[in-house]
Amino acid sequence: MKKTYLVTGAAGFIGGVLARKLVDQGHTVWTIDNLSTGFKENVPDGVHLIQGGCQEPESIAQLEGKAFDAILHFAGQSSGEISFDDPVYDLRTNTESTLRLIKYGLENGCPRFIYSSSMSVYGDVPNEPIAEDWTPQPLSFYGIGKLASEHYLRIYQSKGLQATSLRLFNVYGEGQNMSNLRQGMVSIFLAQLLKEDKIIVKGSNNRFRDFIEVNDVVDITIKMIDEPRSYGKIYNVGTGKRNTVADLLNIMVRESGLDKEIVYAGVTLGDQKGIYADISLIQKEFDFKPQFSLDQGLKNMIEWAKKTKW
Ligand SMILES: NC(=O)c1ccc[n+]([C@@H]2O[C@H](COP(=O)([O-])OP(=O)(O)OC[C@H]3O[C@@H](n4cnc5c(N)ncnc54)[C@H](O)[C@@H]3O)[C@@H](O)[C@H]2O)c1
Repeated sequence: MKKTYLVTGAAGFIGGVLARKLVDQGHTVWTIDNLSTGFKENVPDGVHLIQGGCQEPESIAQLEGKAFDAILHFAGQSSGEISFDDPVYDLRTNTESTLRLIKYGLENGCPRFIYSSSMSVYGDVPNEPIAEDWTPQPLSFYGIGKLASEHYLRIYQSKGLQATSLRLFNVYGEGQNMSNLRQGMVSIFLAQLLKEDKIIVKGSNNRFRDFIEVNDVVDITIKMIDEPRSYGKIYNVGTGKRNTVADLLNIMVRESGLDKEIVYAGVTLGDQKGIYADISLIQKEFDFKPQFSLDQGLKNMIEWAKKTKW
């Protein structure tokens, strides 16, 4: 059945891939995007763009009269480091935006809401897979904003909202912004590997992460839309695999055929030492099986990045 969706942030990386898949499936898609990190050209053909911030009443007002089957909230400032530049802006862009969209959905017959939360909510954790019931202790204002959004969703659940929060781990892949060297570990290193004479790593190479390809994230998001079992729940969305920064750089060097000097300098504000996901819950409830190994995903991304102008 053809549906109508609001995918916020469709001028950006994940929202763009999500909106494109929904349009390809024949659905009608609207987006709100303020183009702060996204690009108009990235909005997939056929997606209706409202240019503005999701936290701005004027943007929400432009949704009047539209009937959405679900709101998929992927707009937001996406970097822990950048959240230190202006914490008040971060709160508005990442949390007030959620609150205004929840209110709009409840008042306009669209209780279904999927939220792009983040593994940043967890903060520093032990060297073991982290499950959803781990007590969050965010290290950045970004993580605080994501966690606060999850809690707004939880409270509005009792007022009829049907919300799901997806704690995304490190998402990478084709379409990631390669010109923003403060956002996205994979895209930052890859951009430097392809264009600069050296790769500057802000932090140690034994930090570890759980890298997940964007199509795996988007496919599980679409699968969840019509799944009442996920209402009121939070899921880790990762691969369950632990890779260090050194592993990541080694694969990139191997798959690109390029070898650059790697310089370790300074730290990244609000950075987590290491984290990877326990994905038992999403596996059990949705038979979630990420399709892309890190090797294959990076190989595809490198091929794309070599062909693409940025
Ligand atoms: N990429 C990751 O690894 C990752 C991990 C965890 C969570 N997330 C979350 O997923 C979402 C998408 O991330 P991404 O990697 O695609 O980032 P992105 O920067 O590529 O895309 C975000 C999009 O949202 C837009 N935007 C930002 N603030 C806005 C606002 N207040 N109102 C309207 N538009 C706004 C930007 O212009 C951009 O087009 C973000 O909420 C991010 O926090 C991403």
